[in-house]
Amino acid sequence: MQLLALALSLCAPIAALPSPHTPKPLEEPIKSPFPIHHSCNATEQRQLATALQETVTLVEHAKDHILRWGNESAIYRKYFGDRPSLTAIGAYDIIVNGNPDNILFRCDDPDGNCALDGWGGHWRGENATDETVICELSYTSRRYLSTMCAQGYTISESETNTFWAGDLLHRLYHIPAIGQGLVEHYADGYDGVLELAEGNRTEAVHDSETLQYFALEVYAYDVAVPGVGCVGGEEDHSDDQTEEPAQDDQEDDEAEDDIPDNCHTHEGGELHCV
Ligand SMILES: *[C@@H]1O[C@H](CO)[C@@H](O)[C@H](O)[C@H]1NC(C)=O
Ligand SMILES: *[C@@H]1O[C@H](CO)[C@@H](O)[C@H](O)[C@H]1NC(C)=O
Ligand SMILES: *[C@@H]1O[C@H](CO)[C@@H](O)[C@H](O)[C@H]1NC(C)=O
Ligand SMILES: *[C@@H]1O[C@H](CO)[C@@H](O)[C@H](O)[C@H]1NC(C)=O
Ligand SMILES: [Zn+2]
Repeated sequence: MQLLALALSLCAPIAALPSPHTPKPLEEPIKSPFPIHHSCNATEQRQLATALQETVTLVEHAKDHILRWGNESAIYRKYFGDRPSLTAIGAYDIIVNGNPDNILFRCDDPDGNCALDGWGGHWRGENATDETVICELSYTSRRYLSTMCAQGYTISESETNTFWAGDLLHRLYHIPAIGQGLVEHYADGYDGVLELAEGNRTEAVHDSETLQYFALEVYAYDVAVPGVGCVGGEEDHSDDQTEEPAQDDQEDDEAEDDIPDNCHTHEGGELHCV
């Protein structure tokens, strides 16, 4: 019987067999809210598209928090003082609903800056104002929002670029089509951002770092650990929590020797070139 079956199968016309060679992939690539250059390979495209989706998720939540609570939210007042909320709402909304056509994220390294120690990416500045390069370091070190409030992360003691969504939000604000030269750097670090708000300074609502910190804090409070969040600081200090920023500082120091004249660093090793 077995022999007969074998003989029959050998005689079967080849066309009747399902082709084992090239099944069509069942899934489409992950859709990115911003264009990704073909220099990104399949895994980079997938990671970056996911991170850009998370950036939209993060700011959409921040916008919703403001629309629901406005200045009744203690977190709103902590970061924006008594400033009206329209500017911050717009700064978040343009990420969610703006025209993404004049923005490009790429994975090749046309300016050669990814070779510099500690560089996670850079805005191409005069070489291509709409373009941002994302270097390999980002793919291996930036975290996804599912780890918000875990692994020692706190709002007050960790860098905003711990999460890829925070890092990409910062990079998006440097692109003229998004930041429009209005969202800029007026404060650096958690304490600087709080100072800006305490003085009820008008810059608070269009400060790049303020917008990042607020989005991360309301996400931590509303989504990651509901009603609690992870502000950290004096109330919540442990040895674990100081380890991570120390590592970032080191990255920053190493990078500093190599910074071209047209670039600036932020606390924690974020680099931008104009
Ligand atoms: C894409 O490029 C990265 C960085 O060079 C590499 O680690 C990864 O393995 C590549 N993925 C594929 C599918 O080739
Ligand atoms: C809150 O916003 C309202 C207007 O929406 C304003 O009248 C009020 O003064 C603000 N309160 C604070 C504490 O900023
Ligand atoms: C622009 O290109 C030049 C020449 O390749 C390079 O020296 C410079 O660093 C680039 N600028 C940026 C912001 O990367
Ligand atoms: C900022 O605004 C709040 C609310 O109106 C007020 O209580 C506080 O005194 C103001 N701070 C400064 C430095 O003006
Ligand atoms: Zn910057």
